[in-house]
Amino acid sequence: MSVLYKSDLARGQAWAGYFATHAPELEFRIWPDAGDLAAVEYLVTWAPAPELLRQLPNLKVIFSTGAGVDHIDFSAVPSAVPVVRMVEPGIINGMVEYVSWAVLGIHRTMRAYAGQQAEGQWRELAVEPASARCVGVMGLGVLGSAVLDRLGRFGYRLVGWSRTRRELPGVQSFAGAAELPAFLQRCDLLVCLLPLTSETRGILNAGLLAQLPRGAALIHVGRGAELDHEALLAALASGQLSEAILDVTEPEPLPPGHPFWLHPRITVTPHIASVTQPLTAAAVLLDNLRRHRRGEPLRDLIDRGRGY
Ligand code: NAP
Ligand code: GLV
Repeated sequence: MSVLYKSDLARGQAWAGYFATHAPELEFRIWPDAGDLAAVEYLVTWAPAPELLRQLPNLKVIFSTGAGVDHIDFSAVPSAVPVVRMVEPGIINGMVEYVSWAVLGIHRTMRAYAGQQAEGQWRELAVEPASARCVGVMGLGVLGSAVLDRLGRFGYRLVGWSRTRRELPGVQSFAGAAELPAFLQRCDLLVCLLPLTSETRGILNAGLLAQLPRGAALIHVGRGAELDHEALLAALASGQLSEAILDVTEPEPLPPGHPFWLHPRITVTPHIASVTQPLTAAAVLLDNLRRHRRGEPLRDLIDRGRGY
């Protein structure tokens, strides 16, 4: 039996070291040093390549190294092979940090202060208390709920939207398409933390942005294909939106000359809001792998029907 890792080499080496110390009984191999392919029972990868899957007759579980799984071609994955996504403390903390930075920066008008500094101006701007602002999060899963928990400690009013109803402390929750308008009309700052599925592709479109309070801000950390670029530019031009912070785009990277690069009210970061942290992730991977070997249910399984 072996575990085959095929992804970023530096992380693979860190995980090989972790397994050597904490699970010396498990053979952890890093691609292309795969050894006997028939011995591979666990594949750890960002996206399993169909040609590799065809060479692994005894594969039991695929562990994706990411939290999102929209990049995986499920039609190439045998239906008997479960796919597990990466949910680990490092990736959760990273998202909480990024969204907190973005919300606080918008609320405390940091873009305006950067402009003032560039012009050598020392000028105080009015600031509202956090309780005067409502932050709305689309997607109340592992990441969205952790983000809301932290934002609540600053005193923001909080609303959330998901496919099925979720009850989170201090959060007014909305569910499904029927309740989306009521959710949107409350969001001074809208955070998108939805997985990319056939239902969420293009969801951040002109019709949705028009339902936000005038002057609202967008923080997009889900997946690039959820955002209609033209709709965002039009909403910024009309004043419907005041600013946007985008960590994800379609395509990634944005091509040279794309209007987002130099837009005065758009901040772009290169899909770095949160990344899998090698050591905390290795512990989660090993724990889940051992659960499988003991015949216990796997954690963080993908539901192929839902697409996330
Ligand atoms: P998760 O635990 O699977 O939660 C997904 C949430 O989205 C759930 O609340 C789900 O509703 C909701 N949802 C899904 N489809 C919906 C729909 N059609 N309408 C309304 N709500 C819908 O996912 P997560 O771990 O929080 O991660 C969310 C996403 O963040 C990932 O899929 C990935 O795309 C993105 N991400 C980005 C970065 C980055 O660095 N930018 C890093 C990691 C992850 P239910 O509660 O009803 O199921
Ligand atoms: C990053 O975007 C991830 O899905 O882990």
